Amino acid sequence: MSIIAPSILSANFAALADDIKDVERAGADWIHIDVMDGHFVPNLTFGAPVVQAIRPVTKLPFDVHLMIERPEQLIPSFIKAGADRITVHAEACTHLHRVVHMIKEAGLPAGVAFNPATPIAAVENLLDDLDLILIMTVNPGFGGQQFIPQSLPKLRQLRTMLAERGMSHIHIQVDGGINAQTSVLVREAGADVLVAGNAVFLEQDRAAAIASLR
Ligand code: DX5
Ligand code: ZN
Repeated sequence: MSIIAPSILSANFAALADDIKDVERAGADWIHIDVMDGHFVPNLTFGAPVVQAIRPVTKLPFDVHLMIERPEQLIPSFIKAGADRITVHAEACTHLHRVVHMIKEAGLPAGVAFNPATPIAAVENLLDDLDLILIMTVNPGFGGQQFIPQSLPKLRQLRTMLAERGMSHIHIQVDGGINAQTSVLVREAGADVLVAGNAVFLEQDRAAAIASLR
């Protein structure tokens, strides 16, 4: 059964708590929190204070996706604010092993994300330390973009890499352009955690929207 993680980037920021409660009632498994710094990606969203503010709203795990330069500088503040798992971009970390260990030593599961053009080879020597690998299925920065089909062979390649090393317990997460149609493709290719922003929050019936992704 897939894990569905609605991205609050597509939620109503003027009523964030209500929208989070609504998707929890609708069957969401995780809450995906897109942190953007305007440097690593051409958009700026929110920081740890917002995570802290919404923490009491739900018991669902906060899946924090750091699309920021030098994430090591802010990881402690997101942990303090209530993150349950943190994913950093391989492209944003000069010392990726050190950043992943920073997350793990704080007791949180660690994830590494790859932009569409980045090969997954960078993670081959880190598999023992990872709980999740995120394959971006759009270029990061915005919700509502078109799914990039070249993500599918990359997903299959990752699934094979993990299976060959006995690491199939590591979550394969996809993020960007995931909807009722593309969810079928990514699940067949190996994804078990599906992030969806517009496909959930722009729908009136969030329960039906989440069910359509599983
Ligand atoms: C993009 C974010 C995604 C995005 C997904 O940079 O990482 O999580 O919010 O939004 P949709 O599902 O609408 O493409
Ligand atoms: Zn994301």
